[in-house]
Amino acid sequence: MFNEEIILSKWVSDMYDMDQTDMSDVEFALSIVGEKPKRVLEVACGSGRILVPFGKAGHTVKGLDFDAYMLEKIPAKAKGMKNIAWQKSDVIKDDWGKEYDVVMLAANFLFNIIADIDYEKAQMLVIKKSSDALVSGGHIYIDYGYTLHPENWFANANETVVWQGTDSNGNTGKMALLDSSFDSKTGLNKFIRRFELLLSDGTEIRQDIPSTKHFATLEQIHQWLEDAGFIVEEEYGDYRRNPIRETTNRAIIWARKM
Ligand SMILES: C[S@@+](CC[C@H](N)C(=O)[O-])C[C@H]1O[C@@H](n2cnc3c(N)ncnc32)[C@H](O)[C@@H]1O
Repeated sequence: MFNEEIILSKWVSDMYDMDQTDMSDVEFALSIVGEKPKRVLEVACGSGRILVPFGKAGHTVKGLDFDAYMLEKIPAKAKGMKNIAWQKSDVIKDDWGKEYDVVMLAANFLFNIIADIDYEKAQMLVIKKSSDALVSGGHIYIDYGYTLHPENWFANANETVVWQGTDSNGNTGKMALLDSSFDSKTGLNKFIRRFELLLSDGTEIRQDIPSTKHFATLEQIHQWLEDAGFIVEEEYGDYRRNPIRETTNRAIIWARKM
């Protein structure tokens, strides 16, 4: 007997870590946060891809994530560092602590939240919790995949392979997205995540996981920020500091808690 969920989580964490080699988002975030050392909380820090470089840049960093396989990759990357901490927590249900100068909702976290509450409420909640965790005058940093035309981005009946490869346990396979649709009225994107794995002992796993995510508009994010007591200071549509427009693909927001 084996636990499919554990095998898939381990495979996903290895694939994520191997795949995410582009660091342009991290370099950009560092340039916005600035050189003066700050107390930084990264919400959903995963394997430390952002957390560790922030610590190396001199900030005192803490990361929260509920995926043990992701978190267990941090120690090897953070050897000898004294200014880094991480904790296994569900960022929807658990407390984040207080007195941070910066809270990071980076790497598209607004669209990667896993929660058993309404998706839009979860997005609103993480912005509110960011405010509660900050000192007055502290900043929230949001980096969110964004388009002015989500109906074109998300409507895709074809299969898109996200990861393909072999993990450190010798389990091999792929994860693909399919049947993606978008409802312009509700902002909901529905799709299937398909896992097809061949385990090192020859067992095959195939799982189709129906998923629903909410695409928050810029107007909604602005409203949630205002409701949580933030004022937007900087906003960009890409890592070249262009404003959000037809051709840009991100919403990067730096907002101060009043
Ligand atoms: C795409 S990864 C990003 C990791 C990291 N920020 C980076 O840039 O490499 C998204 C992370 O969000 C975490 N996550 C999603 N929902 C969460 C929740 N409710 N509580 C804690 N972590 C969560 C996942 O475990 C995963 O590690």
